[in-house]
Amino acid sequence: MTLTVAFDLNRWMAAQLDAVERALDSWVSVDASADLDHHAPADLMAAMRYAVLDGGKRLRPLLVLAAFEAVSAGPGVPPAPRLEEVDEAARRGVALDSAAPEQAALRAACAVELIHAYSLVHDDMPCMDNDVLRRGKATVHVQFGEASALLAGDALQALAFELLTPELTVMSAQQQAHLCRLLSRAAGCTGMAGGQAIDLASVGLQLSEAQLQQMHRLKTGALLSASVMMGAACANIHSCATGALQEYGAAIGLAFQVVDDILDVTADSATLGKTAGKDAHSEKPTYVSLMGLNQASAFAKELLNQALAALKRSGLADVRALEALAFMVVQRSH
Ligand code: IPE
Ligand code: IPE
Ligand code: MG
Ligand code: MG
Ligand code: MG
Repeated sequence: MTLTVAFDLNRWMAAQLDAVERALDSWVSVDASADLDHHAPADLMAAMRYAVLDGGKRLRPLLVLAAFEAVSAGPGVPPAPRLEEVDEAARRGVALDSAAPEQAALRAACAVELIHAYSLVHDDMPCMDNDVLRRGKATVHVQFGEASALLAGDALQALAFELLTPELTVMSAQQQAHLCRLLSRAAGCTGMAGGQAIDLASVGLQLSEAQLQQMHRLKTGALLSASVMMGAACANIHSCATGALQEYGAAIGLAFQVVDDILDVTADSATLGKTAGKDAHSEKPTYVSLMGLNQASAFAKELLNQALAALKRSGLADVRALEALAFMVVQRSH
């Protein structure tokens, strides 16, 4: 007899969020930055902590951890290493392929969130979207000044890659390189930063659907897709589900920005924790300006179905968290 236990998303999320918040709190700190004689300047660290802690849905870390769990749940999962094996590897300073996959996943989850937080700090600056409210608080440049906001973003980006390059006993060199490659591609010129450049160059223009889709896939989709693939990469298992997970990540990545465009029109600033109505005000091309609210919502649902279909095709044993997160992306209120 098989017993199917109902998936309790709230419980799963609470446990993951707790781990992520605690890890971010300890890694984005003056203590963590201390080496023999160098400490991070307290003011810069204060701006970094303000940008990262106390706020945000943490969707990207949740995707990393959900993908990690889905791939870890098999098929073909090797047994966890014995404690003595881990200790011995630590003593010899060598990498153990499956040394600490949970540690690797938590580091990857936090690294993606740091890149995301940095992108928000810069996105809000006067030279970009010029916003004063983020995550229900004054934006970083309003609170700390423009130069500090710029530097806090820079330092958060650097810290993300520091998290991905720990001692070899935590992650093998190969795994570190793979994760760094996935994250740097998603953050750079052919990912988030490139998409942001297109966004700024498109003010006041009417983009075709193909152009708009390209902009959204780069500025937002790339980092969400990378979250899924980084989680899968932390499982230390060659997964034949790679193609399906890529499709899932691409679908929810685009859906996320379509819904962001919709919420900018339909939700209020208090619910969003950021200023509503900014896109029309700033003449940004969006899915709402291109096709109207109804069609944009229908498109988001179509993308949700694509994501769910990809998960079905993946052959992974337990995709319940990934499924629940796809629903969350499309049905969220903020
Ligand atoms: C907002 O992202 C910026 C976009 C990429 C559209 P989120 O809606 O995930 O922001 P937080 O992390 O929850 O604040
Ligand atoms: C920003 O898109 C995407 C990023 C890379 C930060 P938006 O400019 O639409 O994000 P919000 O609406 O300010 O959160
Ligand atoms: Mg923007
Ligand atoms: Mg913005
Ligand atoms: Mg927006």
